[in-house]
Amino acid sequence: MRKLYIFDTTLRDGEQSLGITLNVREKLDIARQVAKLGVDVIEAGFPASSPGDFEAVKIIAQEIKGVAICGLSRSVAKDIDLCAEALRGAEYPRIHTGIAVSPVHMEKKLRLTPSQVIERAVEAVKHAKKYVSDVEFYAEDAFRSDREFLVEILTKTIEAGATVVNIPDTVGYATPWEYGELVTYVKQHVPNIDKVKLSIHCHNDLGMATANSLAGIKAGADQIEGTINGIGERAGNTALEEVIMAIYTQKRTYGVECNINTKEIAATSRLVSLITGVPVPNHKAIVGANAFMHASGIHQDGVLKETHTYEIIDPEVIGVPRNQIVLSARSGRHALKHRLEELGYTVSDSQLEEVYESFLQLADKKQEVYDEDLHALMGETRAIPKLFRLKKIAVATSGSQSATATVTIAINDQEEVTDAAIGNGPVDAVFKAIDRITGNQARLDDFSLRSISKGTEAQGNATVKITSPFNSYIGRGVDTDIIRASALAYLDAVSKMVEKERGNNENRADFSDSSHNG
Ligand code: KIV
Ligand code: ZN
Repeated sequence: MRKLYIFDTTLRDGEQSLGITLNVREKLDIARQVAKLGVDVIEAGFPASSPGDFEAVKIIAQEIKGVAICGLSRSVAKDIDLCAEALRGAEYPRIHTGIAVSPVHMEKKLRLTPSQVIERAVEAVKHAKKYVSDVEFYAEDAFRSDREFLVEILTKTIEAGATVVNIPDTVGYATPWEYGELVTYVKQHVPNIDKVKLSIHCHNDLGMATANSLAGIKAGADQIEGTINGIGERAGNTALEEVIMAIYTQKRTYGVECNINTKEIAATSRLVSLITGVPVPNHKAIVGANAFMHASGIHQDGVLKETHTYEIIDPEVIGVPRNQIVLSARSGRHALKHRLEELGYTVSDSQLEEVYESFLQLADKKQEVYDEDLHALMGETRAIPKLFRLKKIAVATSGSQSATATVTIAINDQEEVTDAAIGNGPVDAVFKAIDRITGNQARLDDFSLRSISKGTEAQGNATVKITSPFNSYIGRGVDTDIIRASALAYLDAVSKMVEKERGNNENRADFSDSSHNG
């Protein structure tokens, strides 16, 4: 079996999804979980893109050991300098530098001739090599490039010291057979390719990212790049969990193995969804809520007789316990801890006390506590220091549509401010009261509410998207009271915006002169 290296770019390409903006602490939490999953490389960010990204890469490099930490940079000396600086504390630092190589990108975006592009690429790799031994070169939009030119640039960057070369399908244009052929072509025509690892990186514009990546693996790629839950620019990146489980279930077909602890897949997917605010669709392969549910009578009958009739993966392999246990206010600490461990959480004795308190409050409100409720509870008790914290909320509705909301918010866990507003219905009134207290002026772009478990007492999961002149922010809130869940989500989004935009928009790298990271 060949070894397949897993390169996680959830924090870089994934964070480029519209509406996702993570703070340093959130990025660190994701990096820790992805390291626990067993990936070989974590692309922690793009240090030159903002001071926040620089800080996140720096802290992740200092804190997360036993795995390569990578930073992205354009083929620009000052990007590479910043990247090296951010990676200084890493045990295994990697600089990922590169430039676009397709005719349309070189001509229209970079306005450089092919030979100028090669010159920049070679200089960038040599410059990065002054700082770290592990340098990955990306040939952006490689799939749409001229093949002879691609061979030339890869050959020269390998001569310049690249240890990994990446041939992305940046715009998600490839078909599986064509992408497989590209990998074969590069392996056959780049004379020094056996000196380096060949990496693949696919986007999902035509829904082919997983299929294209698997074709690339079958054709001999050494490393696959992707994100958890497939989040990323436009239609997203390759969903790592899909590729990992494809090669796990079809070992002989792909002939590769990787270091992943598959039992961490469900927990990693949940954490990424919780922190980014991007929900996982119920029908999503591997990690969707329905991925192991059997609805039709014929299927249920088959599964009861023999699970393999309709199940190709044992849910326990990805960390989803098969047995359904429902806890209640009568369940003790021991039962709660046991179930949390089965669901993939590690709780210390002191954490257990705090979680148990919240669990009892929830069980009092809704009698039966399902796994989905426990996941939400664990998300809520992550003890994130928040700029704005909801303290009290009271809503009065009259017979007509208008409602009045009175809201109290703690600012920085210190001062408490109360204000009231009238709105077109209770949620509108609550949001307006929050705007008055926080001074928020961002536009509300999206608001959705769905239940996370069963019955009329189920918890409501609210998601809100707001947009400022600089960016979009997603906030999430869970509560048995849907007005409160909505208020929590709105406040979460507003807190993220205020924290991010406080002085964070100065010093952003100017992308107009060179290759954009896609
Ligand atoms: O899609 C792409 O080409 C990228 C590179 C920056 C690696 O994300
Ligand atoms: Zn990409």
